[in-house]
Amino acid sequence: MKLTIIGTGYVGLVTGACFSEMGSHVTCVDIDREKIDNLKKGILPIYEPGLESIVLNNYQDGTLRFTTHLAQAAKDCNVFFIAVGTPPGQDGSADLRYVLEVARQIGSVIEDYAVIVDKSTVPVGTADKVRDQVSQALEARGAAIEFDVVSNPEFLKEGAAVNDFLKPDRIIVGADSDRAAKLMRRLYAPFSRNRDKMMFMNVKDAEMTKYAANSMLATKISFMNEISNLCERLGVDVENVRKGIGSDSRIGYSFIYPGCGYGGSCFPKDVKALVKTGRDAGFAPTLLEAVEERNNLQKQVLGDKVINRFGPDLTGRTFGIWGLAFKPGTDDMREASSRVLIRALLDAGARVNVYDPVAMGQAKKEIPAHEQEKICFAQDQYTALDRTDACILVTEWKTFRQPDFKKMAALMKARVIFDGRNQYDPEEIKEAGFEYHGIGREL
Ligand code: UGA
Repeated sequence: MKLTIIGTGYVGLVTGACFSEMGSHVTCVDIDREKIDNLKKGILPIYEPGLESIVLNNYQDGTLRFTTHLAQAAKDCNVFFIAVGTPPGQDGSADLRYVLEVARQIGSVIEDYAVIVDKSTVPVGTADKVRDQVSQALEARGAAIEFDVVSNPEFLKEGAAVNDFLKPDRIIVGADSDRAAKLMRRLYAPFSRNRDKMMFMNVKDAEMTKYAANSMLATKISFMNEISNLCERLGVDVENVRKGIGSDSRIGYSFIYPGCGYGGSCFPKDVKALVKTGRDAGFAPTLLEAVEERNNLQKQVLGDKVINRFGPDLTGRTFGIWGLAFKPGTDDMREASSRVLIRALLDAGARVNVYDPVAMGQAKKEIPAHEQEKICFAQDQYTALDRTDACILVTEWKTFRQPDFKKMAALMKARVIFDGRNQYDPEEIKEAGFEYHGIGREL
C-alpha cells in the first residue's frame, strides 16, 4: 500500500519506517528542509535503538522516501497519517494548530478517496475538526472527493519504539465507516498476523482510549510514589511493598516502580490535556489533578533529600549526577526529573557534574546557558564523581547498575549515594562503605 506520513518526529518517523519495513511504500513529509535533507543522508533527528538501520535500508530500497512537498507525496496515495506535534498550550490543552493546518493541506491535495489518520495524540473531538478542515479545503477547490477521518493512536514507548510498533499489544482503530475500517485492517494486516490485534471502535472512543491509557499508567506511578513517601515516614521499605502488591495479578508488576517522577513528552502533557478536557466538559477531574501534583512534587524529592542531608546552603559542594534523559534508552530531556534536580542544587549554591551515556548533546542544547556555567559535562560516569559530595542516580541506564564502588569511593570526597530509582541494594551499598538514600526506604 502507499502511505503518506506528515511529520517526521518521534511517532511519524517510527510509523513511516516500520510500515516501510513491512512492505508498504511510504513517503514521509516534513516542512523542515534540514531534517528531510538529513534523513536522506541517513542522519536521524532522534536517538532510538534499531531505527537507523530500518530507515537506511528502506530508503536505499526506495520503499521509504522523504520530501518537503506534500502534493508530490499525495500522488496516487489514499492513506495520510497526521503525525505532527500537539504541544501543550498555556492552559494545558493540546495545541491543535499544526494538526489542523496539515488537515487543510491534505484537503487541498487529495485526488481520490482518502483515509486521513490521526496518529498524533489528540483530544476527543479532534477528528471532527480535522474533517471540517478537509471539507473546507475541498470546497475551496470545488472538489467533491470522499474521505474518512480515522483515529489510530500510537502506544509506542521511547527507547523501545521500533519493537513496540512492530509487535504491538493492540492496534486501536476508531473509524466511523466500514470502508475506512477495511482499509485500516488491510494496512495493519502484517502486524496482526499471528493474533488479531485490531480493535475497532468509533472515532471518539479511540481518541479517549489513548488519553485513558497514558493517564492510567501515570496514575499507577504517582500512586506508587505517594506510597513511597508514606513508607519513608513509617520505616517501611517500598521495594518490598512493590513486590508484595505486584504479585497480585489484578495489580501487576509494571509501572509501579517508585522513583523521582515521570517525565517525557507524553505522560505530563497528556494528563494535563485530559484535566483540561474534563474541566471544559464541566467536570472536575480531581484524581488526574492529584496525579499531576504528586508528580511535580516527586521531581523535587531528590533535591529535598540532598538538602536534608547537607543543609540548605550547598555552596562549595559538588554533586555528581548519573543520568539526564527522562528514562533510559533515549536522549529525550523533555520534562526530565534531572532538570528539576539540577535547578534545585544550583539554586542552593552547589556545582554539579553530569553524565548520561546518550543525552549529553541534548542536555547542552536544552539546559539554559546560565545553568551550564555551573555544570561540568563529564566524559564518563566516574569522572562525573571526581571530588563530589555525593552521587545522585536519576536515570537507571544499565551502565549505572553495577558500578565499581571501590573506584567511586576513591574518587569521591564523601561516600554518599542518592538512588533516585531504587537500583541498588542498600545493604550492598552500606557494605561498600557508602551512606545510602533511596526512594521510599528511609527518611
Ligand atoms: C509513554 C507510554 O508508556 C506509551 O505507551 C505511549 O505510547 C507514550 O507514552 C506516548 O504517548 O507516546 P514514554 O513516554 O516513551 O511512553 O515512556 P515510559 O516508558 O512510559 O516512561 C514514562 C516515565 O515514567 C519515565 O520518566 C519513567 O521513568 C517513568 N516511570 C515508568 C516510573 O517512574 N515508574 C514506572 O514504574 C514506570
